[in-house]
Amino acid sequence: MNILYFDTISSTNTYLKNKYELFPNMQVVCANTQTNGRGRMDRKWIDSDDLLFSILIKEKLKNYSNLSLLIALAVSKALENLNIKPTIKWPNDIMVDDKKVCGILLEALTKDKIECVIIGVGLNVNSQTFSQDLIIKANSLRNILGRKLNKDNLLLDILNIFNEYLQEYKNDSRKYLDEINNRFYLLDKEVTYIQNNNEKKGVVLGVNDSGEILIKTDNDIISLNYGEITLKNIYKE
Ligand code: BTN
Repeated sequence: MNILYFDTISSTNTYLKNKYELFPNMQVVCANTQTNGRGRMDRKWIDSDDLLFSILIKEKLKNYSNLSLLIALAVSKALENLNIKPTIKWPNDIMVDDKKVCGILLEALTKDKIECVIIGVGLNVNSQTFSQDLIIKANSLRNILGRKLNKDNLLLDILNIFNEYLQEYKNDSRKYLDEINNRFYLLDKEVTYIQNNNEKKGVVLGVNDSGEILIKTDNDIISLNYGEITLKNIYKE
């Protein structure tokens, strides 16, 4: 995989969005710091000596729906190699002990069809302090392990794992579902969710191969995508 490194950039996702035509499939852009890092729902992504990168997916895939869970699994495996026990919080955060250590921003560029997908990863590696509003919600690998980490090695590990998973995923999009579900943050938790303005309760069973969450209600098992429901308390972001 080709990796283009920047010391400072506005945002690795924005860069690839603007220049995707110039780069091959699987181009990676990595930066030391971002001046306009973007999170989901138009939030800012603040960094401080963290791992910030984006991967350009230009090839046609049968199924794009679980790409963010696939990269989440690859990051999780790389963290497990460091003896950290992460869980995957649907749809695309990685948690360690109930605190977020990694966020994923998936962006698709479409004209008539999907031109490309950009997978942006912000992994809190060496940051030591967080703003007041994030202190109880976020953490970094450095704080967890008590030592500074080499970001380059971590990036290579994540990319190698992701690349291997992606090749398998192309043949069988269900292949890693069990591995994802085994690390599913909400697994077996009772959740209250709001669907069509009605508040309901159920127990989370995992995700399916369309990336939908599976919830067991009193008399049914339902599958819902992220746009369809609000999970109370758990997803108070
Ligand atoms: C989120 O949890 O809201 C997603 C955060 C994604 C941040 C990464 S950092 C690298 C890439 N470039 C960006 O501007 N955002 C993503």
